[in-house]
This record gives sequence, C-alpha cells and structure tokens, in this order.
Amino acid sequence: MRIDKFLCEMNIGSRSEVKQILKAGLVKVNDHLVKQADFKVEPLVDLITFKGQKLEYIPFYYYMLNKPAGVVSATTDNTAETVVALLGADKREDLFPVGRLDKDTTGLLLLTNDGSLAHQLLSPKKHVDKTYLVTTSKKLSSEDIARLEQGVDIGEGQITMPARVESMDDFHIYLTIQEGKFHQVKRMLQAVNNKVCALQRVSFGPLSLDESLLPGEYRSLTDEELTKLRSTVCTKC
Ligand code: URA
Repeated sequence: MRIDKFLCEMNIGSRSEVKQILKAGLVKVNDHLVKQADFKVEPLVDLITFKGQKLEYIPFYYYMLNKPAGVVSATTDNTAETVVALLGADKREDLFPVGRLDKDTTGLLLLTNDGSLAHQLLSPKKHVDKTYLVTTSKKLSSEDIARLEQGVDIGEGQITMPARVESMDDFHIYLTIQEGKFHQVKRMLQAVNNKVCALQRVSFGPLSLDESLLPGEYRSLTDEELTKLRSTVCTKC
C-alpha cells in the first residue's frame, strides 16, 4: 500500500494534507524518513511513525449506527446528510453502509470498510434475517399476515421470499425478511392494501439494535458481535 493512502486511512489527513506532512519529514518507516507519497509500505509488518508516535494499523472497522430519519444511506450526497458523515472523527474514506435504509427509515445500520463481509451479509443466498418494526396505517387481517409470510407480488414480476410476521397490536408488526429489495417492506405492505407509517430496523442477522444508542449515535461492534455476524455467513463455520 502507498504511504499516502495508509496515512489517509489512519485519519492523519486528506490526500493533500498527507503530502505536506510527508514533505515536512514527520513520517518514518522502520526508522527511515519517508517523504515520497508513493513509497510502498506493508502496514501489518512495517513500523510506521507519525511525529514519533507508532501508527497501529487496524484494517477493518465495524460500527452499529442507530440511523435517524432524514439521513441518506450513502457515502456522499449533494442534498442530504449521509450516514457516513454521522461518524464524525471516526469517518474514514473507505467506510460505507452495509445495504440501504430509506431516508425516512430509522434503526440498525452497519457501517464497515470490509467489502467481503458486507457482500456476504447482503447476499440473498445467505438468508440473513432483517427484522423491522412496522407501523401500519390499519390493522392487518390474518389473511394479510398469511400472504406476507408466504410471499407477495411487489410489482415488476417480483414475488417476495417467505417472511415472518409477529403482530404486536392493531398498528404494529415485526416483519422479518431475508432480502433487501428496493423499498421492500413498503411494497409488501402495499401489496396487502396497507401502508407503512413508520419503519424501524430492529435487528440484522444476530445483532439487535443497541437501545442505549440515541438516533444518530453509533458504536463499534464488540468482538462477540463480530464473531456472531461472521458465523452467520461463513459456510465453513
Ligand atoms: N424496506 C423498505 O421499504 N425500506 C427500508 O428502508 C428497508 C426495507
């Protein structure tokens, strides 16, 4: 990896700031001053220091965010705030959300820079459960629930995979699905002549939304959570 990329990933500065930092002679690799931005390093092997402080390389980051409404699940956007921007000081260039929640959807969203794990978690073949607390505009009948559970036509020839519904009261259900089609939950409720008034994701695979996180707050996954998450998609485990 190039030293300038490494320093950016370590949040030392932007690409241009890092160039100046290198020119100023503030970075050493294995005790040698390095000034060229394209100098190659092996982050897990080389001893890299900035202003004399060792930089500990952590290749992958995993965060759980309680997504608030009004924020888009993207890395950049011209009009609205992004979920990545909510990470503040922990915002690294390569972090991205694991899938998308609609702008008005709240709740559990994972953010990482581990493309391989994210890809597996999002693959319909891996059957990762996603549970939503759905506020509906009217009570669902038992026939509606049976249809949602069996699979409904959400348009464009798309029939949803089997789902699970747990009815809470006249206006609230927990709906568990294993896919992530565009506006899937809203389209499923529409297919049974209902409407989503509010949508919150409360769990993703083995992880539940940490209730101590206020909307907009986030935290790193614990080692135990990460192990559980990996084992849900690891075919060899
Ligand atoms: N289904 C939806 O309709 N919206 C979401 O944000 C997530 C699932």
